[in-house]
Amino acid sequence: MSTIDVQGVLQGLLQQVAASDTPREVLKAPEFKQMYGAIAILPAEERGAFGREVNQVKVTVEQAVEARENELESADVVALDVTAPWSVNGTKPQLLPTNQGTQHPLTKELDNVIDIFTRMGFDAIESRQIDDDHHMFGTLNFPEDHPARDGYDTFRTEEGFIPPAHTSTMQHRILKDGKAQLEAGGHIAAISYGRVFRNEDVDATHEHTFYQVEGVYVSKTANLGQMLGTLRSFFETYYGQTLRIKTQPAYFPFVEPGLEFAIEKPAAIGGKTGDWLEMLGCGMIHPNVLREAGIDPTQYRGFAWGGGVERLVMLKYGIEDLRHFEAGKLAFLRKFKS
Ligand code: DAH
Repeated sequence: MSTIDVQGVLQGLLQQVAASDTPREVLKAPEFKQMYGAIAILPAEERGAFGREVNQVKVTVEQAVEARENELESADVVALDVTAPWSVNGTKPQLLPTNQGTQHPLTKELDNVIDIFTRMGFDAIESRQIDDDHHMFGTLNFPEDHPARDGYDTFRTEEGFIPPAHTSTMQHRILKDGKAQLEAGGHIAAISYGRVFRNEDVDATHEHTFYQVEGVYVSKTANLGQMLGTLRSFFETYYGQTLRIKTQPAYFPFVEPGLEFAIEKPAAIGGKTGDWLEMLGCGMIHPNVLREAGIDPTQYRGFAWGGGVERLVMLKYGIEDLRHFEAGKLAFLRKFKS
């Protein structure tokens, strides 16, 4: 027989968990080491039963830790009585103290992205979360029934509206709104950011809901060199270091030529030479897209790009699973508290 009073140890550990603000620490208590150590020195015929008892202690303590963590997460929220009569002059509802709240990492990083582009002279507008076929496809040079539409696995409402599958839906609006400015001798420079939706099977690298940022620049002399300089400058500012970049041809109906833009994964976050990461799609705006917005493509040229925000942020912080962003888990969100 072991001399350890396993049930007594269990009670002690459960008391520690119940009183702790960091209950997970109890799983590292020396008692576990002692109990597991004791298994090895027992006579062979007693080891099985004792081992099972010790394992049961571990499971029970783990369950208590989870219960305590959940209790701590909701501890400061006082349930509102939604049936109570409501009065303008009534007492204020009790809300979580503000020092408990954190900005969502995507909000924080999106602000960062917007900040960089506005400092470069771009206007920033939020994209729509419900749109139509005309802006999703028609104005972007996707002919009716063209197979390129299949690349965007969209949802549709019964009325035929579309939760947009990309922020390129904003291009036509940006171009139309900027036309007068362009004709007065200026240029169009805007980014559009927001939520987009795709009919995806969710896994570590695919979500049905995610964020994109789109950029549009039009002038009399816009060219690919300016586009690559703009994008490089953005990525180098965002990651705070110099980067190697590369492009390869890609097809998007709304640009020609169309390109994919990649950066070499920085050594500071474990990248090796030749570790290329594709970050976004881009190209020179197709004459049909300019024409559709009433802009004469023989007088003006433009470039555009669009890419996902989550990828940027995952790379910056080494986040391995895209699903963390929409999961609403406090343990993940609190890591970004500043
Ligand atoms: N909208 C494209 C997508 O979501 C990305 C994109 C590619 C945007 C090329 C652009 C562009 O503005 O020029 O797949």
